[in-house]
Amino acid sequence: MKAVIITQPGGPEVLQVQERPVPVAGPGQVLIRVAAAGINRPDVAQRKGKYPAPPDVPPDIAGLEVAGVVEACGPGASRWQAGDKVCALAGGGGYAQYAAVDERHCLPVPEGWSFEEAASLPETVFTVWHNVFQRGGLRSKENFLVHGGSSGIGITAIQLAKARGARVFATAGTEEKCLACEELGAEKCINYKLSDFEDSLMKVGLDVILDMVGGDYIPKNLRLLRPDGRLVFINAMNGGKGGFDALDLMRRRLTLTGSTLRPRDADFKAALAADVEKNVWPVIAAGEFRSVVYKVFDMENAPAAHALMESSEHIGKIVLRME
Ligand SMILES: NC(=O)c1ccc[n+]([C@@H]2O[C@H](COP(=O)([O-])OP(=O)(O)OC[C@H]3O[C@@H](n4cnc5c(N)ncnc54)[C@H](OP(=O)(O)O)[C@@H]3O)[C@@H](O)[C@H]2O)c1
Repeated sequence: MKAVIITQPGGPEVLQVQERPVPVAGPGQVLIRVAAAGINRPDVAQRKGKYPAPPDVPPDIAGLEVAGVVEACGPGASRWQAGDKVCALAGGGGYAQYAAVDERHCLPVPEGWSFEEAASLPETVFTVWHNVFQRGGLRSKENFLVHGGSSGIGITAIQLAKARGARVFATAGTEEKCLACEELGAEKCINYKLSDFEDSLMKVGLDVILDMVGGDYIPKNLRLLRPDGRLVFINAMNGGKGGFDALDLMRRRLTLTGSTLRPRDADFKAALAADVEKNVWPVIAAGEFRSVVYKVFDMENAPAAHALMESSEHIGKIVLRME
C-alpha cells in the first residue's frame, strides 16, 4: 500500500509517499481500506518529532482519524462486516491506504456524508465531546466560549454546544473566521487581534471555556468564569504556565481540568465512541451539525496540506484523499 511517511523530523517536505506492507487486523480490530484521513494539529507536532506515536501504531505514519470501507475483520471482531462504510479514531497510521483499527473505535459514516466529510469527524468530535460535555459538563442555557473557533476543534465545539442549547461565544484571528463561527452558531465571535476578548465578554460571564491557547489567556479565562465555572484545556500553544489564586478558586468554586485523547487506553476510547454514537450521531442525523471541510488534498500533496494547516489560514478541517 501507499502511505505518507514522516521520513525524518522536520518541515512539511519530510512527508513522502512510500510503499509499506498492508497492516493485518489483529484481535478485535478491523482493516479499513482508507478513502480519506483528517488532518489535525497534533499531526504537525508528530511530524516535527514533538509528539511521538504510542507503541501500538506505526511510528512514522501520522493520522488520527480515517473514513473508508471495512476490508476484513480480525479474530473476535463482530460488529462490522466487509463492505461497511465506517469512520474511525486511529491512534496514528491514518495517512495510508489501509489502517487496522479497534472495531469499537469505528462509527458508521453518517447517511449522505462523503468519506472526506466523515474523515473530518472522529478526532475533533471525540475530543470535544469528552472535554466540553463529559469533563466540562456543559448544559443547556449555559454560556460557553471556545478559543480558536475556526479550528477543526472550534467548528465542532460551536455546533455541538449550540445543539445542546448553550449560548456560544468564540474567538478567532480574522473577520472572515469570525463570520464563519457566527454562521455556525456562535452568538458572537471576537476577533482577538482587534479587541480584547476579556473586555468583550466580561458582562456575559462564562460557565465553560474550552482553551487550546494557554499563556496569557489563562488568567483572562479565569476572570471570565462565573461561579461554578469550568475551564478545560486541550492544549497550551502559548505556554502552560498561568498563576491562579487558590482562594479565588474556592470562593467562586471554579474547576480547572483538561485532557489529551491520544494516550488514553482502548477501553476508554471505546466507551467514548459509544457515548458519541449515542449523543452526537443523532445530532448529525437531525441536520444540526455539518461538516466544514476547507480543502481536500491527494496523499501526494500531504506537504501542502500540512503547510496550509501551519499557515492557520484554513477554516474548519483539512483532509487527505487516499484513493
Ligand atoms: N487534547 C486533545 O485531546 C486534543 C485533540 C485534538 C486537538 N487538540 C488541540 O486542539 C487545537 C486545535 O486543533 P485543530 O486540529 O482543530 O487545529 P487547527 O484547525 O490547526 O486550528 C488551530 C487554530 O488555533 C489558532 N491559534 C491560536 N493561537 C495559536 C498559536 N499560538 N499557534 C497556532 N495556532 C493558534 C489558529 O487560529 P487563529 O488564526 O484564529 O488564531 C489556528 O487556526 C490544537 O492546539 C490541538 O493540538 C487537542
